[in-house]
Amino acid sequence: MTDSPARPSATIARRGFLALGGSAAAAAALAACTASSSPTGPATPTPTPWAPPAEPMPFPADYLWGTATSAYQVEGETALDGRGPSIWDTFAATRSNVKGGATGDPAADQYHRYEADADLMSDLGVGAYRFSISWSRILPTGSGAVNQAGLDHYRAVVDALVARGIRPAITLFHWDLPQALQDAGGWGDRETTARFAEYARTLFDAFGDVEIDWLTINEPKTHAFVGHWYGVHAPGLTDPDAAAAAVHHQMLAHGLAVREFRASGAKGRIGIALNLLPVYPIDPDATGGAERVDASENRLFLDPVLLGSYPIDAIGPYPGSLPADATAFEALQQPGDLDVISEPCDLLAIQYYGVTGVDDGGNTVTIEPTSAASWQQIRAEGLYDLLTRLRDDYPPIPILITENGMPDPLPAVTVDDPYRVDFLRTHFQQAARAIDEGVPLIGHFVWSLLDNFEWAEGYSQRWGIVAVDFATQERMPKASAGYFSDVIAANAVSPD
Ligand code: NOJ
Repeated sequence: MTDSPARPSATIARRGFLALGGSAAAAAALAACTASSSPTGPATPTPTPWAPPAEPMPFPADYLWGTATSAYQVEGETALDGRGPSIWDTFAATRSNVKGGATGDPAADQYHRYEADADLMSDLGVGAYRFSISWSRILPTGSGAVNQAGLDHYRAVVDALVARGIRPAITLFHWDLPQALQDAGGWGDRETTARFAEYARTLFDAFGDVEIDWLTINEPKTHAFVGHWYGVHAPGLTDPDAAAAAVHHQMLAHGLAVREFRASGAKGRIGIALNLLPVYPIDPDATGGAERVDASENRLFLDPVLLGSYPIDAIGPYPGSLPADATAFEALQQPGDLDVISEPCDLLAIQYYGVTGVDDGGNTVTIEPTSAASWQQIRAEGLYDLLTRLRDDYPPIPILITENGMPDPLPAVTVDDPYRVDFLRTHFQQAARAIDEGVPLIGHFVWSLLDNFEWAEGYSQRWGIVAVDFATQERMPKASAGYFSDVIAANAVSPD
């Protein structure tokens, strides 16, 4: 699912992440799900098709263990040092758009507290930190003159990490488009792709001396669907055709940035961060709908990057598809675009939160227990299904999990989170299982380092392994932080 509680119409219900495959696990899920396919009914956990071995499962020696955040969710200080407004400032300024009328201030105040947060990560033993750069701190109106204070800030963050032996992983776009670019058409306008390439080049030139894992675009699906179709995220549009345009232009922007990266000669590696969703048809009649949900949730993003083509069944007036005009989507594509989009990357970043069932009407249905985020159906084995599907269906490429996690059940601060310990353990096990079976997985980042601003949920959903009191900005590691630290130290995951 795309980080949103509900899809815009009843006929095309909530979307999920897609992992359709012919594996035994999928077949087991299918059989188990048939009995519990109600979209709103209680989820019946599927029987566990796999049990961990008695001995700890080791990870490769150079496995990258990390934590992740993004600029608007943790930084605060949205008007300091020349930062221009982004679409999230505008969106959150309308109180009804975000729970509690919350905004990106103060968030976790990481703009000021990055040194202490780097210490915290160092204490946990993490090898990498994924954060995003706010485009409008670098280019306050999206293009033109560079704001040196913005570059200086992120140089200080990078230096603080490198000084502690923590590898920076930097997302270029995590949904906070400069408002001036939105005013000029946003991702509906092809020009935005050129502005993104310029912004990316500015950063590659500024930080090219550092070994960094660059992620071009974070979850283009969520930004396109939830921001341009469901109207739940900025920029708050409810137009499937705008969503389709946002898909193509974000994908094109990704490819242009990869080309800029190669041309710049910057150190490090580059890829795109895609949220993917294993999809399980709940009965044999649901296979067609599930394939279309898989197309719009997964292949619409994987295929252009890894195969150089768009799937033909992702867009159109069919159950499970993105209900946009397929002809208009094709008309956006100029000769050579798919060559740009499929420019070879160094890695594929994936973000995994759970699975979905699909019924014969192409509707996503609840087949697993959900977290406090109603879109999140938790099934650790889905991660294995996804990873092995990527191995089987696409050309080989190193895979990095750049997000994986769950929220606390209640909005209150807690450091007692056995559910998250269990979530992490079972997902690490499935990652180790996939590695054992030849999946080229190179690292695993937990979402999130800190409790933070969870978009339309404001501060009511806490996703951190470290709790934050937003009034005092005190950091309090949860039990899951201690557990994660132990796993990193052992570089292995135990059965329980
Ligand atoms: C994915 C997004 O990248 C991140 O910003 C968000 O907080 C998490 N999912 C949890 O919803």
